[in-house]
Amino acid sequence: MGYPITRLRRLRKNERLRRITAETKVSVDDFIYPLFVCPGKGVKNEINAMPDVFQMSIDNIVEECKIVYELGIPGIILFGIPEKKDSLGSEGYSDKGIIQRAVSQIKKEVPELIIITDVCLCEYTDHGHCGVIVNNDVDNDQTLELLAKMAVSHSKAGADIVAPSDMMDGRVKKIRTALDECGFNQIPILSYSVKYASAFYGPFREAAESVPKFGDRKSYQMDPPNSDEAMREIALDIEEGADIVMIKPALAYLDIIRRAKEKFNIPIAAYNVSGEYSMIKAGARMGWIDENNIIIEVLTSIKRAGADIIITYFAKKAVELLTKF
Ligand code: PBG
Repeated sequence: MGYPITRLRRLRKNERLRRITAETKVSVDDFIYPLFVCPGKGVKNEINAMPDVFQMSIDNIVEECKIVYELGIPGIILFGIPEKKDSLGSEGYSDKGIIQRAVSQIKKEVPELIIITDVCLCEYTDHGHCGVIVNNDVDNDQTLELLAKMAVSHSKAGADIVAPSDMMDGRVKKIRTALDECGFNQIPILSYSVKYASAFYGPFREAAESVPKFGDRKSYQMDPPNSDEAMREIALDIEEGADIVMIKPALAYLDIIRRAKEKFNIPIAAYNVSGEYSMIKAGARMGWIDENNIIIEVLTSIKRAGADIIITYFAKKAVELLTKF
């Protein structure tokens, strides 16, 4: 039945009508908040390209986690800036590493907050790549051994979920096997299954001090034109034992999120990455866009595309805004 019987504007007339007919609602339950932990005491360094995002020492991270918990945000994802870097990223899988110490401290003080740890070597290697370098490229199978060690040591420290973000082939299976052998068969794997070689990670690399010293990550991260390949990555990760799969970045890849949601019956996470955050912050600072409305619109689009979990630097701000909406 068409116009004039059907008038779609009837249900748009006022705010309450729009509220009861809204198909998608982002909520605090959707969010994971990323945090960067660094050595020292009392440290709180703002990231140049990410206003309101900080590198924090463990004492400050714990205080931040209390705030996040009070806001009702279900969990955090933790990235570490180590004391020392070396060619094999050994602080990444040392039981005394920055992440391991931070995780056990947070667990002590905010036990219910979900702690997800990023399992990747790029923050810990002196060359800034995500694995072991052999002949100027990252060696897949040697890297798997170290990733498995890292996932086990994060779990020992008290991590609730481990999230491999290296894009090596076979890492989910390797990590699942190692976790199970060490008595961690209840620790889920959130796999960064579809991680594109994206320019949107620029500000994160400043935050995590993980810019590659040579070359780029294109020999292991996915090529942006590819969508079929993304489905193959997800299918393989599910087969290898992933519990949650992630698509990253979010905004330039909403089509991939939608396709994944339609094809697979597994929780889908999307990472609203650093560059997506910085663009909005920059536009708002220039006075060119309305930050608060854009935050809610963008997060809604990621959920509408099919994401069940949204990792976002806007999590705290969004919770504040949602109570007003
Ligand atoms: C580590 C990692 C990266 C991000 C998350 N985990 C950076 C990269 O691959 O270079 C990016 C997150 C963001 O941009 O917010 N491998």
